[in-house]
Amino acid sequence: MDVQRASTSLTQLQTDCVVVGIPEAESVEASVAELEHGLASLVQDLMDSGDFKAKAGQVLVVQRPMGLVAKRLVLVGLGRSDKRTAWSERECFTALGQTLHQLPIKSAHLDISSLVPGQTTASIERLGYALAYTSYHYDTTKPRKEPKTHQLGTVSTGDDAIVADALSQGLMIGEGANLTRELGNLPGNTCTPRYLASQAEHLSARYPKLEVEILDEDAMAEIGMHCLLSVSRGSDEPARFIIIKHMQDPDPTAKPKVLVGKGVTFDTGGISLKPGSAMDEMKFDMCGAATVMGCMQVVSALALPKNIIGVIGAVENMPSGRAIKPGDVVTTLSGQTVEILNTDAEGRLVLCDALTYVERFDPEAVVDIATLTGACLVALGKHNTGLLSTDDALAETLLTLGREVGDPCWRLPIEEPYQKLLDSNFADIANIGGRDAGTITAACFLSRFTDAYRWAHLDIAGTAWFSSGKAKGASGRPVPLLVEWLRQ
Ligand code: BES
Ligand code: MN
Ligand code: ZN
Repeated sequence: MDVQRASTSLTQLQTDCVVVGIPEAESVEASVAELEHGLASLVQDLMDSGDFKAKAGQVLVVQRPMGLVAKRLVLVGLGRSDKRTAWSERECFTALGQTLHQLPIKSAHLDISSLVPGQTTASIERLGYALAYTSYHYDTTKPRKEPKTHQLGTVSTGDDAIVADALSQGLMIGEGANLTRELGNLPGNTCTPRYLASQAEHLSARYPKLEVEILDEDAMAEIGMHCLLSVSRGSDEPARFIIIKHMQDPDPTAKPKVLVGKGVTFDTGGISLKPGSAMDEMKFDMCGAATVMGCMQVVSALALPKNIIGVIGAVENMPSGRAIKPGDVVTTLSGQTVEILNTDAEGRLVLCDALTYVERFDPEAVVDIATLTGACLVALGKHNTGLLSTDDALAETLLTLGREVGDPCWRLPIEEPYQKLLDSNFADIANIGGRDAGTITAACFLSRFTDAYRWAHLDIAGTAWFSSGKAKGASGRPVPLLVEWLRQ
């Protein structure tokens, strides 16, 4: 989608569609107070008649609006200003985007001053994000549809470079989230570890400043990533370890921020086989990896002057005659041994070697992203991502940024008494801690491999995808949160 700037007044603009935001206020007069005269009387009529109430996310399309040159007027309700949050703003803009993409229009003009009261760049970015986000539609494995002749390809704003720039940046973040969603939505028989590696190569072909390195199983065995490889043993799909670097800090000695993604392209549970219901959703078990890819695309598209490294442990978790069994002991890259009591707790076995690997980058901080525990979904539902960290300042930063951008997370503790639950009689550490506090013991496991740097863990088991009905599919979270963190 292109962003253009227009200097004509709203009522005189020649365009397929003019989009205006209306706050829900005590009186209709207050709602329309900021609008141009010709527009205000039309909107006032629509509100007086009760056709439009300006509730948050309400969208109304008016054909051939009186007093406007434009073919259509689209009104979007912004709800009450005292109830507005980054999250509710996202919902409003998403509803708007859905309507716009369903209309047979090629261009739309956005009246930023009414859509974004205060005109903060963060809110304008969210608008851009929502427009990109709602332009995505999964059809990769559906029979080809007729190409759409009228696709919203251009959006215009007023003649203000800062506004247009913020909108473009939001679009870029939305496009990154769409990459994350596409990779998440692809079925497990397409999106294998080798496919993820090829997509990383593809990304660096499109964004030449990204450097990509791929380790195959021999290369991983050679350096001692036996814990990651143990998960992959039961699968006919070979594992891959993917490293994507964006080294653009003008200070060459600047330490990098590092993202580590869980890339289990399908999680059957292995020998500790999962029950059948909803097992298809375990194709989403690589959403951490997809988040890393989406973020790396965004940092490159935004040309952030920073050093940022993304790594992905990509494996498939399958049962077979060669698969690891409960009771098996494996040696991690760190040298610590692990007793695998449940082969379905495989994400941590992949991540622990990745977390040790990234020590070599001497990171400023590391954040891993993983669909790690069903327990996180039980604890926090599908609204907040689970946040666990051994570094209070880093945790506080992520918590605050999450609220600010409308991609929230909620902290759970990592504390010594939980660590004991991982004691093993046969290895340095067991890979499960029993029934209680599943999200915490998973993070405790990871924490044994993160002593060398500041670290936080995001458990996206609840937030990475929507489970039911027409909305079923990857959500693109937490790309907005992480992009915000990487920008700091
Ligand atoms: N990928 C799953 C976690 C998961 C399950 C995410 C359902 C989203 C929805 C992970 O590999 C897993 O199986 N975890 C086990 C851990 C347990 C064996 C300690 C779980 O959560 O049941
Ligand atoms: Mn599992
Ligand atoms: Zn898993």
